[in-house]
Amino acid sequence: MDPGIRQMTRLYALAVFFVVTLAGARAQTTDAGRQPFLVHCVGCHGDDGTGGGHGPDIVNVDHPRSVSKDAVRDLILKGIPGAGMPAFQIPIDQADAIAAYVMVLKGASAGGPAAARQAVPGDPLEGEAFFAGKGGCTSCHEVRGRGGVLGPDLSNVGDEQTLAQIKQALVDPGGAQPSGGGRRSSGGPSYRAVTVHLRNGETIRGIAKNESAFDLQLLGVDGKLYLLVKDQVASVISEKSLMPKVEATPAELRDLLAYLSRLSMNPNATFTDPTAKFKMSNVVGTGGGVSVSDVARPKIGSWPTYHGNESGNRFSQLNQINTSNVGQLAPKWMFTIGAPSGGGPPKVGVPSWSGLEVTPIVVDGVMYVTSVNEAYALDARSGREIWHYSRPRSLGLAGDAAGGINRGVAILGDRVFMVTDNAHLIALHRLTGQLLWDAKMADSQENYGATSAPLVVNDLVISGVSGGDEGIRGFLDAYKASTGEHVWRFWTVPAPGEPGSETWVGRAIEHGCASTWLTGTYDPETNLLYWPTGNPCPDYNGDQRKGDNLYSSSMLALDPRTGKLRWYYQFSPHDLYDWDATETPMLVDAEFRGSPRKLLVQANRNGFFYVLDRLTGKVLLAEPFVKKVTWASAIGPDGRPMRLPPNDTCSMDSATNWPSTAFNPGTGLFYVMASEKCSAFSKNDQQWEAGQSFYGGGSHRVPGTVPRQFLRALDLQTGKIAWELPQVGEASTASGILATAGGLVFYGDNNGAFVAVNGKDGKPLWHFNTSQRWRASPMTFMLDGNQYIGVAVGTTILTFRLP
Ligand code: HEC
Ligand code: HEC
Repeated sequence: MDPGIRQMTRLYALAVFFVVTLAGARAQTTDAGRQPFLVHCVGCHGDDGTGGGHGPDIVNVDHPRSVSKDAVRDLILKGIPGAGMPAFQIPIDQADAIAAYVMVLKGASAGGPAAARQAVPGDPLEGEAFFAGKGGCTSCHEVRGRGGVLGPDLSNVGDEQTLAQIKQALVDPGGAQPSGGGRRSSGGPSYRAVTVHLRNGETIRGIAKNESAFDLQLLGVDGKLYLLVKDQVASVISEKSLMPKVEATPAELRDLLAYLSRLSMNPNATFTDPTAKFKMSNVVGTGGGVSVSDVARPKIGSWPTYHGNESGNRFSQLNQINTSNVGQLAPKWMFTIGAPSGGGPPKVGVPSWSGLEVTPIVVDGVMYVTSVNEAYALDARSGREIWHYSRPRSLGLAGDAAGGINRGVAILGDRVFMVTDNAHLIALHRLTGQLLWDAKMADSQENYGATSAPLVVNDLVISGVSGGDEGIRGFLDAYKASTGEHVWRFWTVPAPGEPGSETWVGRAIEHGCASTWLTGTYDPETNLLYWPTGNPCPDYNGDQRKGDNLYSSSMLALDPRTGKLRWYYQFSPHDLYDWDATETPMLVDAEFRGSPRKLLVQANRNGFFYVLDRLTGKVLLAEPFVKKVTWASAIGPDGRPMRLPPNDTCSMDSATNWPSTAFNPGTGLFYVMASEKCSAFSKNDQQWEAGQSFYGGGSHRVPGTVPRQFLRALDLQTGKIAWELPQVGEASTASGILATAGGLVFYGDNNGAFVAVNGKDGKPLWHFNTSQRWRASPMTFMLDGNQYIGVAVGTTILTFRLP
């Protein structure tokens, strides 16, 4: 017998032995799931999951909808309403047990007992050395955030594949999998190896991430992303696999298998990187891709941050689409992301309250969008998916995070950053969506969550947390973009005894909120980071928090290197009305009252439009932008509101909220969607509880009044309303605003239309009906000489351009 074949036979026998051992060890844990599977699932999926009379094979699926046990559990509980898979109202632990069993049927070891894995013979340390050295595996495979991205991330391969499957992948790359094996590499991302000949004579070899009759998204072996249209392509030749067959001695192969089978992301796994080789601290820099200056000083036509630029001014220099031709603006493509709320059939004719809140970002022809715990990279020309990252939604959350909100990503180098619903900050690879690091900011069981796009400042990623009506203790965090290492934290509520704690008289300081959920802004010239904070908690009851309650409902100016406070300004001291100051802190350089100044402008939820000196925090102007500010007559010269006695019959409710505002330096006008709304507020003595909101009262609309909204243009110099466009119907849009050098202002209206008006006078020039409730802010970008407008509405990303 050929020694190679003998070796393979031996290994195969070994593999079979361990599969059997693993299966035996698994038996007890999966029995719990087998019985209910036979009860609930058998009719549709068959008793082994390969398909019954009424449903598909869920074991051998080319692009499975769910690749982890948690995702299958979620799918069982939520069903796939549109596709014929019912939602099951069964206890979560039963769904969990069924999901574990489904994973066994799929052939994954699903976290198989570490003890059995330990029995795989060989030296894992030697295997690791081979993997990173002679084997050349790290040129294509990433383990714990380090390595190449042409092949799958192997950080968890020991938990996701059986020994037999791993071995098969090594000896026969791209070949058939052992029977019963679910091929992990088909779980979502494509690894189809192709050689593409272009009409211009060039040849590109790589992985076809996605292909249609009209385009092809290709990750080249040179590490570049090729977004091709089919007109450019002469031929596409498929190969079996990009991965070369492993050249190794029997001993090396044994050690390699010992290493790979022990790779696990499970924190309880016994083998976790004992050598230093894959430590994240070895990672230098953030890779190629997007540079710090691309982020701080965006190239014209790119939109590399949540607001398009770090000043938070959603004004674009692009003017191809302008007041004279906007009437011809037409949809270009759409991309639908599953319903963020995940459940239930849509109500006909009633726009859902849930919906995407993301602002897309676009860099180098790629658009990045998110929904809760989901990120997508799209070919910005066509809307075709390049990659998709997903993790199951967390259970047991409270507040906005539980509602399923995510407002988008930040980008630097080869990393794309987003928050998850349970207050983690994660980094994904720009080209593949592979997870590079995962930093837990806070404990979601303590009511923390996260909903907004992080902000990149130099080599740091800054992120706040949500839970601002749930009694968290607010903070702002900074992490190294390269490794996810924590750098600093600024607490927005002092600990008892710390300076500032004297502004909290009573028990409430323990759960004071002042959360940091909306993305802040950054001024590279003065190197100051601006971050707004939310209301104090309990929202409506101030009895246990007498005093100003620093730093709630405030603007913070921080040193981004250290997180040290430079100045703060509190808009609403001792707020009793849920007036988060989490409206965008927009940075404007403008002539103000005769001299050039560095300004910070904000239309605050408390009804005043503020112009601050952003170097000192001094108030230069504060004018009401709604008609009935019932709580203060003015903002005094010392910056403090001059309070009026409480108005219990019709008290001003939030005058605006987080959706973005815009300022056009050409017109000198600041654009905001203002709400004229009055409510009656009440308080109670609710106590804080994990998993619950902590409003300490409530508010309701005053009978006989109708909340209305107005698109308003405010004069920066005076704060006076230059023009307004009343919205038809009751206040319901949460759309943000985009202003462009084309003289236009874009926003989503109360009845579901996407509208462009003339920025000078508010005259409507174009609209496109979507019949959806708006919850996101529009953006614009330039590609191949064409200006696009991009916006999320309902569960869809839409783009527009001129024909
Ligand atoms: C009434 C029939 C029906 C029943 C009962 C049913 N399913 Fe499904 N299931 C479907 C259909 C149809 C799909 C395919 C949806 C699609 O992808 O288009 C599906 C899809 C799935 C998928 C996703 C397959 C993939 O990877 O793409 C999983 C996992 C699944 N079902 C698990 C279960 C489990 C577990 C049960 C029992 C708790 C169950 N199903 C009960 C009809 C059913
Ligand atoms: C040129 C790139 C490349 C190199 C080098 C490479 N691989 Fe791969 N590998 C891939 C690709 C692409 C896949 C996806 C499946 C396929 O195409 O076979 C893969 C799949 C795998 C899988 C299966 C994982 C799964 O989730 O399906 C394992 C295990 C694996 N490789 C291990 C290795 C090891 C060990 C080495 C080094 C000895 C190595 N690879 C070298 C590209 C590579």
